[in-house]
Amino acid sequence: MSTTTDSEFSLQKIMSWGLVIALGGVATVVALVSIANAVKGGGKPVDAEAIKLRIAPVAAVTIAAPVAAGGGARSGEQIYKGACSACHDAGVANAPKLGDKGAWAPRIALGLDGLLKSAIAGKNAMPPKGGSDANDTELARTIVYMANKSGASFKEPAAK
Ligand code: HEC
Repeated sequence: MSTTTDSEFSLQKIMSWGLVIALGGVATVVALVSIANAVKGGGKPVDAEAIKLRIAPVAAVTIAAPVAAGGGARSGEQIYKGACSACHDAGVANAPKLGDKGAWAPRIALGLDGLLKSAIAGKNAMPPKGGSDANDTELARTIVYMANKSGASFKEPAAK
């Protein structure tokens, strides 16, 4: 009985080693193929292209943003939605609401220059530039957008 166990055991051992050697062989072949591919550079250019394509829109936005900020390329509507709507949509802290002709009429009477001046400096609860990073041209454009939605017919200033 113990002999059978021994021989079974050694048979198992031999089979295990055989398996290890066989797996080792497979692993070696896989490794060699990978190395060969890496050396050839097979697939690598495709990967780089794919990555470039995938990040392209992000890269474009990153490049476009500073240009827009410097050149004043953002529209009044864009700035309004990003920086002014928080107060002027709902009339927070008595901010004149967008489209509220009654609230805007006395302000429109100040003219675009007057409104721009108070918007740049800030007025009561309104922080300077409405807390935005808009330049003067962009700010003027935003005021034109707001005032014209609320009864004015200001002309939009040209980009500088
Ligand atoms: C934190 C809230 C808040 C934000 C954000 C804000 N405003 Fe105002 N805004 C006000 C308030 C309050 C008033 C009314 C001030 C007053 O007359 O007492 C006002 C008034 C104004 C006026 C009229 C000024 C005048 O002389 O009567 C203009 C123009 C204006 N805002 C433009 C903007 C623009 C453009 C932005 C975005 C870039 C902006 N605001 C963002 C609160 C805000």
